Amino acid sequence: MPTTPMRSSSGSASLPASAEALASSLALWYRAAARSLPWRGLKDPYAIWLSEVMLQQTQVATVLGKGYFSRFLEAFPTVEALARAELPELLARWSGLGYYARARAMHAAAKEIALRGAFPDTMDELRSLPGFGPYTAAAVASIAFERPEPAIDGNALRVYGRLVGLRAARAEAEPLLRELVRPLLAHGKPSELNQAVMDLGASLCAPATPSCPLCPWREPCVARRLGLQAEIPPARKPTARRRLSWVAAVLRDERGRILLARRPERGLFGGLWELPGGELSSTGDERRELARLLRERLGIRVRVGAAVAEVSQILTHRDLRVVAHAATSSGSPSALTGYLGVRFAGREDLASLGLSSVTRKLLAKLDGRADRPARRTVTHQRASARLGAP
Ligand code: ADE
Repeated sequence: MPTTPMRSSSGSASLPASAEALASSLALWYRAAARSLPWRGLKDPYAIWLSEVMLQQTQVATVLGKGYFSRFLEAFPTVEALARAELPELLARWSGLGYYARARAMHAAAKEIALRGAFPDTMDELRSLPGFGPYTAAAVASIAFERPEPAIDGNALRVYGRLVGLRAARAEAEPLLRELVRPLLAHGKPSELNQAVMDLGASLCAPATPSCPLCPWREPCVARRLGLQAEIPPARKPTARRRLSWVAAVLRDERGRILLARRPERGLFGGLWELPGGELSSTGDERRELARLLRERLGIRVRVGAAVAEVSQILTHRDLRVVAHAATSSGSPSALTGYLGVRFAGREDLASLGLSSVTRKLLAKLDGRADRPARRTVTHQRASARLGAP
């Protein structure tokens, strides 16, 4: 293959071989190596869209392993069915996938599509829908409608960036690569070529240890030739995350059902059910704070007992830690401020409720243990943290 000189900085990268040669070696590889995935072979734009939304920030193995994709399609088989769904039911079906803003945007977009009466098939129309960024629009346009649009997600960015030897950061690299690789898609089926790049990024062109000798682009790849695989894409600066500490109550009714409260629609874990509580102010005593929160938010006086479960979760911009305490109350709770509703839920109710991921983890920890105090080490760590110990 003819090669052109590479530019290791941004701005003037070029394809290291003809678009036709690159497309044809990629397509050959894909026909032999394509992963067998349930949405492959489908031409239904709704199903393709669903797969793309689920795969944003969720691994293929997670989406497949728990059957999220097929179960969601069974519940909402068409875009019209999704448009008619009630948001809480939709969120319940999404439960476990996280990043619920995706499900909300899908719901809003489904309503618009149902109103239009046909699934949009151009980039401009797709981009006008809620939740359709450049990647999702290009993935749907190419996979469902064979439009020659490069779908550039994190994997594609790495594959193409290495191919052309582009060391620029994402914000700069993405639009550059999109235009640079667009001609490839004119030399084959866009649905195949885009998904081939996705598979290449998920298999051979791995971030840390790429399997270059097996790659269909081993010859033209500039990063391989110059040994730049580890530098492309460039490491991102770690994002500073705010630490967030929450306390929550494990309150049961006389039947042993657990009290849950529904969060406001907007914001973190919007519209989902959780163990009631709230954010701990930095100075507060944990139990007293929790009692205050429940008085203000649910109108109940509670006796707060020992910590019974603790979970930590890294969110996009925050490090969240939640400590749940056993609690008892004589009053009956109602949503006063900060919550949309309250209810007691038995084990059989939990599957059909949209629970926040931290609540799901807390309940899993409580499951089987009669709200006993958390392991000593946890309580101890918290005590020392309060005293400012390392
Ligand atoms: N990741 C996102 N979309 C994908 C697809 N269609 N195939 C494989 N991996 C993907």
